[in-house]
Amino acid sequence: FSVEYHDSIASTNNRARELAGEGATDVVVLADEQTGGRGRLEREWTAPSGGVWLSVVCRPDIAPARAPLYTLAISVATARAAREAGVDAWIKWPNDVVVPTDDTGDYRKLSGILTEMEGETDRVEWIVVGPGINANIDADALPAGATSIREEAGDVDRRRFVQRLLAEFDRYRTDLEAVVPAWRELALTLGQRVRVDRPAGELVGEAVDVTGSGALVIETDDGRVTVSAGDCEHLR
Ligand code: BTN
Repeated sequence: FSVEYHDSIASTNNRARELAGEGATDVVVLADEQTGGRGRLEREWTAPSGGVWLSVVCRPDIAPARAPLYTLAISVATARAAREAGVDAWIKWPNDVVVPTDDTGDYRKLSGILTEMEGETDRVEWIVVGPGINANIDADALPAGATSIREEAGDVDRRRFVQRLLAEFDRYRTDLEAVVPAWRELALTLGQRVRVDRPAGELVGEAVDVTGSGALVIETDDGRVTVSAGDCEHLR
């Protein structure tokens, strides 16, 4: 990967999309601070100085249906890098990296990922995977329910963290079959009672599995349901 670094930028995903549109590939846009960070579902993402805010531009030869594996791969890479930094990091489906606060399934969020892509129905043209990691940031500069590496384990060497994250991501993007098994080992969601908000309505049940394409299988009162996208909350 080549890296384009910014002290401050509106959103690394915006810049990465611009580069993708110009034909770039394997470029990482990295920033210390974002002034207009974007989250999933049109939410804002708080991204003060001290974090790891990055977006990777890829042009994989895959069908759009496999694109969620890229997001899962980045979440595996992020969780591994966070563990190396001393954080008890786990993944909440589909791709938040969280730190459990107790053994009831409760957690604080360390990282989220915004994935955007363009392409035909049968082939991805480009994909931008953008993880944001609350690294060397005080908890009081973060939204409620969030935590940081500083808070959990003390400051991390961000250069080393990014290197580890990109090395792990690079390994999995070339071996997509290995992504879900690796994800399963880090999943906090499996075995939990969950509520999933999806376009087709809300679902409550026990999260029992993930499919090969990264969809969550939920055992509900009306039987097993597979959900490929949605907002997931762990219930007690
Ligand atoms: C979420 O959990 O809602 C996803 C948050 C994604 C934030 C990252 S920070 C780097 C990249 N650039 C952005 O504007 N957003 C993503």
